[in-house]
Amino acid sequence: MSDAYKRVAGERALDYVKDGMVLGLGTGSTVYYTLQKLGRLVQEGLQIKGIPTSKATEVMAKELGIPLTNFREHPVLDITIDGADAVTPKLELVKGGGGALLREKLVAGASKQMIVIVDESKRVDSFDGVSIPVEVVPFAVETTVERIRALGGRPTMRQDGDELFVTDNAHYIVDVTFASVPDVAALHDRLKRLTGVVETGLFPDLASFVIVGSARGVDVVER
Ligand code: A5P
Repeated sequence: MSDAYKRVAGERALDYVKDGMVLGLGTGSTVYYTLQKLGRLVQEGLQIKGIPTSKATEVMAKELGIPLTNFREHPVLDITIDGADAVTPKLELVKGGGGALLREKLVAGASKQMIVIVDESKRVDSFDGVSIPVEVVPFAVETTVERIRALGGRPTMRQDGDELFVTDNAHYIVDVTFASVPDVAALHDRLKRLTGVVETGLFPDLASFVIVGSARGVDVVER
C-alpha cells in the first residue's frame, strides 16, 4: 500500500510546477513517481529544467527526457521536490536514507521552495531513536565515529554488501541514533562542528510544506 501513498504524494507535488520553472529533482522511491509523471508532462509540452540531487536521479531524468541544467546557469531554483525518511510536526526532516543528503541539501537550500513528499509512515513525533545519516570523509573515519559516539550517538557505518557505502561525493555515511533529540538544529550544529563531518541528514528548516500520501488521499502539512 505504501507505494500507492508514495505515488499520490509524488504526483501531487507537480500541481505546483509551472512552465519556465527550474526544479530541484530529489532522490528516492517517492520522487520516482514525481519523475515518471514529470517525464510525461515534458513529453506533452511542459517547459521546465531540472537539477538532479544524485547520479541515480540524473540517469532517470535523462531516460525520461527531462531537460537538465546546472548551478552555473541557474544558481537559484524555483522548487525542489524531494522525499524524506522522517518528518516531525514542525516539518523538521531526516534525509539521506538513499545517501544523497549532501546534494539534496545544496539543491534545497538554493531553492525558493522545498516541497517534501512522503507516505504517512514517515511522520514521527520526534527524532528520538531515529537513524540519522551523517556524511563523513573517509580519512580518519574511525576518529570521526568516536567523536560522534562521544556526543551520545550510536553510530553504524553504512554498508553496501560487503563494502562500505560510498556516496556520489566519494564519502562514507555513518547512520547514528540518539536516544533523545530535544533540539534538532542544535544536534545538527554539534555534529557539523566535528572536522570529519561533511554534512548531516538533519534538515531543521528547509521544508516549505509536506505532502503526505495516505489511505485518505493527500494531506498538505504547512508550518
Ligand atoms: C535520499 O538520500 C534520501 O534523502 C531520500 O530522499 C529519502 O531517503 C526518502 O526516500 P524514499 O522516498 O525512498 O523513502
